[in-house]
Amino acid sequence: MDGDRQGSAERPRTPFSRRHLLLGGAAAGLGASALVGADLLAGRGEPPAPAPSPAPAPEEPDGGETVPFHGPHQAGVETPPQAHANFVAFDLAADVDRERTRRLLTLLTDDVAKLSQGDAALADSEPELAYVPARLTVTFGFGPGLVERVAPDAAPSWLRPLPEFAVDRLRDEWSDGDLLLQVCADDPLTVAHATRMLTKDVRAFGAVRWVQAGFRRARGSEAAGTTMRNLMGQVDGTVNTAPGTDDFERIVWDGGGNPDWLRGGTSLVIRRIAMDLDKWDRLDRSGREESVGRRLADGAPLTGSREHDEPDFDAVTPLGFPVIAEFAHIRRARTDDPAERIFRRAYNYDLPVTGSEGQDAGLVFASFQADVDRQFVPIQKRLDELDLLNEWISPIGSAVFAIPPGCEEGGFVGETLFDA
Ligand code: HEM
Repeated sequence: MDGDRQGSAERPRTPFSRRHLLLGGAAAGLGASALVGADLLAGRGEPPAPAPSPAPAPEEPDGGETVPFHGPHQAGVETPPQAHANFVAFDLAADVDRERTRRLLTLLTDDVAKLSQGDAALADSEPELAYVPARLTVTFGFGPGLVERVAPDAAPSWLRPLPEFAVDRLRDEWSDGDLLLQVCADDPLTVAHATRMLTKDVRAFGAVRWVQAGFRRARGSEAAGTTMRNLMGQVDGTVNTAPGTDDFERIVWDGGGNPDWLRGGTSLVIRRIAMDLDKWDRLDRSGREESVGRRLADGAPLTGSREHDEPDFDAVTPLGFPVIAEFAHIRRARTDDPAERIFRRAYNYDLPVTGSEGQDAGLVFASFQADVDRQFVPIQKRLDELDLLNEWISPIGSAVFAIPPGCEEGGFVGETLFDA
């Protein structure tokens, strides 16, 4: 299978680092003043006009930035969301047993460890494309089919398709899968190259089931940390637990009830949610804001003035109606139960339109939580029962994956499952 893998190409050293340019600039400056001094010493009359200041050193491009691959958690969960993503799900072939799954995961780990650090994969046919890592992360997810092959008794209870919801219009072509690779980077060419290299690795073991490409605003087009907007124009992601906090630890990593092999791991729910943007276009601005309970301009709750103001769910209009309606998405999505919280890390999608069809667009909704049944399902149930947004959105794909912990150098992602 991997007989055609050649040695990886060496990553060339960058010829001009930022430090080199700055030092070069300083040296050029020094050279100019030395010349002025020499002119004066030579007694050639008036001091010459001051030398032009050296050109500012060009900014180093962002594409060189890397996210560490090894560690207790996989990258791509806490990582501030990159601008582009491919969620790629695979079906494993029927003859891929425990040992072949181990080989596949070792192979993928090897290549991801290299690609994420800006080095070519082992059999990289276009190594130059790997030299711009652009914060590339690849997060592995295991569907029920993979866990079944390796350690059938070790599956967490929530690792199965979600219960059916009335809003669902699910299609097989966007649902389920044995293995997921969430490939994220700030550069679409980097995402495309990593996706291709890793897909080639899997070829001998299975087939691509679906690919969902997603995007946010390009890096640098807004200040870092700005909450993303979705294609309905809403600020989406305001109330979200923040990586690095105790809250995040509890919501995402602390899977107290999960099997031991998942310690340091979590779960990922992916819902492909189509938006009927033509219908949304027919709704006026206040109707749009009421459906969510937040303003479009800045994402502030209808009872506040800034994005991060706490919504006042008790506030009423002069006529006695709630300012944030009973059917508003944020009222329905919220709960006082601290167990029912999730970490959302969604992307927009937008497929080419053909003929006179309306736009095929929506959200690749992605949420991480330690326990799907305790955290995600109750929220989705409430939204299923009542949420005005349901007038314009319908889930057309759904998949649940266990996200194993990260690995150290020399190990591979998923190794703990083999000890389970
Ligand atoms: C296309 C589908 C969806 C759209 C357009 C959407 C949009 C939004 C918007 C604009 C907000 C308010 C800003 C914010 O806090 O992020 C929000 C909040 C939220 N959404 Fe969604 N959402 C969608 C699907 C979902 C789904 C499937 C879930 C989970 C099952 C979900 C859970 C939440 C939660 C937990 C909040 C925060 C509520 C709070 O204020 O406590 N959303 N969503």
